[in-house]
Amino acid sequence: MESIVITDVSPRDGLQNQAIHLSTADKLEFVRLLARAGVTSVEATSFVSPKAVPQMADAADLLPLISQALPQLRVSVLVPNLKGLERARAAGAKEIAVVLSATETMNQKNINMTLAQATAVSVETLQAARAAGLRTRAYLAVAFECPFEGKTPVEAVLRLAAVLHEARADELVIADTIGAAGPAQVRDLLRELVGVLPVDEVGAHFHDTRGMGVANAWAALEAGVRRFDASAGGIGGCPFAPGAAGNLATEDLALMAHQAGFATGVELTALLEAVQFAQDRLQRPLGGRSSTWLRKQALRAAS
Ligand code: COA
Ligand code: ZN
Repeated sequence: MESIVITDVSPRDGLQNQAIHLSTADKLEFVRLLARAGVTSVEATSFVSPKAVPQMADAADLLPLISQALPQLRVSVLVPNLKGLERARAAGAKEIAVVLSATETMNQKNINMTLAQATAVSVETLQAARAAGLRTRAYLAVAFECPFEGKTPVEAVLRLAAVLHEARADELVIADTIGAAGPAQVRDLLRELVGVLPVDEVGAHFHDTRGMGVANAWAALEAGVRRFDASAGGIGGCPFAPGAAGNLATEDLALMAHQAGFATGVELTALLEAVQFAQDRLQRPLGGRSSTWLRKQALRAAS
């Protein structure tokens, strides 16, 4: 059976934007529940300025706890610069992700750098991480549309993708940061990208703002992509990208993949427990579009 790789980014992309800040112990428990549900890869936290994202201020405490408790789990952390990489390495990180936005304004709003600065910093951070033997992911954010500049030119995405590939990112993650893309656009862009990059090094990261998350994932799958980011319960959204809603929910992605005959490793009933835990802690309703049906199925199976 063919499989897809899901990186659950809810502990980072999900929790970074929540009004309620989870304790380090609760974050660890959440990641533990994700792993118990069969998630094999998570983005656990980010080593960014605690002034910019106070929700991630405990990264240096959390990462070693996760590594110790879940040694089999693939754990990535987001780092915006060399300082972030240093902090991540000191905490034992084995995999990092840099974030480069495809537009000038988004880089300024997100990491206070021009596009040229952000490109240079991403490249130097990737190279330093590789030299230190870490696995690397590179986000290309606002790859379809920017909240400040509108539609992102395809040429800009292709140019930056080539730069990140040359800097030896193991995985280039094409991100629809504000969830503005539709499946036709996703198909066209990803077909172009997988024509020039090795397809197993391309990942897709969707937000479900306009309800297109699953359709976009399907378009990416049809373009040959097999690596996906998603977030349990659909928690998520970038604090610096106005209008960004939650991520494509892991349960919706996994259900779609299973229906299409792809293995994900994710056990959906167990995933519901992780979503329930996050819902209780964050005190807000969570869940993907399939959640109501999944919960009913789980109840039926249990009775
Ligand atoms: N981790 C922790 N602290 C960091 C840091 C990092 N990776 N990088 C810089 N800092 C600290 C500096 O040491 C400095 O501290 P001080 O005020 O105590 O001297 C302060 O942050 C400002 O540093 P500077 O280099 O001037 O950065 P900045 O203010 O221009 O901010 C970023 C740049 C990248 C650090 C900041 O914008 C950021 O962390 N953004 C993260 C955005 C994010 O996570 N977005 C969502 C995910 S895409
Ligand atoms: Zn995102």
